[in-house]
Amino acid sequence: MYNSSTGNSMLCRDFMRPRIIQASLKTQKEGIAGNTKVPRNVNMEKLRSGYLFPEISKREVQHIEKYPDAKLISLGIGDTTEPLPDIIASSMANYALSLSTAEGYRGYGAEQGNKALRKAIAETFYKDVRIKETEVFVSDGAQCDITRLQLLLGSNVSIAVQDPSFPAYVDSSVIIGQAGDFEDKSRMYGNIEYMKCVPQTNFFPDLAKTSRTDIIFFCSPNNPTGHAATRQQLEQLVKFAKENGSIIIFDSAYAAYITDDSPRSIFEIPGAREVAIEVSSFSKFAGFTGIRLGWTVVPEELSFSNGFPVINDFNRIVCTCFNGASSIAQVGGLACLSPEGFAAVCSITDYYKENAKILLNTFASLGLKVYGGKNAPYLWVHFPGSKSWDVFTEILERTHIITVPGSGFGPAGEEFMRVCAFGHRESILEAARRLENLYL
Ligand SMILES: Cc1ncc(COP(=O)(O)O)c(C=O)c1O
Repeated sequence: MYNSSTGNSMLCRDFMRPRIIQASLKTQKEGIAGNTKVPRNVNMEKLRSGYLFPEISKREVQHIEKYPDAKLISLGIGDTTEPLPDIIASSMANYALSLSTAEGYRGYGAEQGNKALRKAIAETFYKDVRIKETEVFVSDGAQCDITRLQLLLGSNVSIAVQDPSFPAYVDSSVIIGQAGDFEDKSRMYGNIEYMKCVPQTNFFPDLAKTSRTDIIFFCSPNNPTGHAATRQQLEQLVKFAKENGSIIIFDSAYAAYITDDSPRSIFEIPGAREVAIEVSSFSKFAGFTGIRLGWTVVPEELSFSNGFPVINDFNRIVCTCFNGASSIAQVGGLACLSPEGFAAVCSITDYYKENAKILLNTFASLGLKVYGGKNAPYLWVHFPGSKSWDVFTEILERTHIITVPGSGFGPAGEEFMRVCAFGHRESILEAARRLENLYL
């Protein structure tokens, strides 16, 4: 029977659809009378209740009901806001129209992705680090590939995650059956190694205290802290993975936001080809959050303990469980990587970086300690001694701004708020004004 206290965990995109969430919860409750005889997946049962983004959606709905005339500003979900450059939108529109002609029509493409796009990704992002186009698998987004990688790995591996971290790593681990039960006291799942990444450790785990796991999820620039790992930190990580015979799954979804000389790819680190997979995305780099396009790099050298190449198994997963990204999205991806498209896309990431700077200066001028924002579209603001949900409520009540409580990304996120820099400039400036009025 459905137990409302162990409701489904949902990921970021659900934040956009508060009413749909309400409706689906209602249907689940109403459905109890006509139960099937199908047992619920015990791993789904394990997912913790009251998960971050549905909870924020609920509070947003309640806030709108309470203040129907308020102009709500969302610095919450990390969704892009600026229109696509014309060159990219028209490439997709023209291709879509050509599908209505006998000469232009195309059906399935290669499961691994359009050859030209794989080549363009390898040449644009991995030019100096020896990634072959055949090692690049085009996807419908990094989040989907994180789950496909979990399917590839199965339930018998152990994982480590940064604490705090993007929720998909932990949740997909629970769903596939790698995790133990959720412990309310520690707010951690059993059998997952939480690697604390806090300001005192320069947002890098203390590897001397980190237990060996098969898999290490590592996101840089990090969501939520905004920290981009330094070259030295990533060298330590690769060394640690080598010594332990572990595989790093490196998430570089925000690499386009790096402004200093931090590595944009794990493959910039010597030796990474033998221990790492990289997942990445067009979502935040090119505003493709709705279009859906990403990629995963699996080097040929990476092998399982029995010597079998990981790339062969990943290819099998992609052919069996995916069938390739939308051809329209892939045409758009190719346009993003043309010289003109790339320049246009970079000017939009520059716009978001300027937003981040405005917010960073605002929080700093208020005397708050703020991290991130320089190599990522996220700011990580410290409110010492406060519970992050209390700060969320105070900011929402008094400024009508949605933020994200840091505790939602893991226990080490308590006392922090994640503030996102995606948004139209006037909303960012208005948010800055409201925050100044609140905290000055
Ligand atoms: C760190 C990280 N990885 C992956 C994703 C998902 O990206 P995609 O839209 O490509 O599925 C996100 C989305 O917010 C993210 O923050």
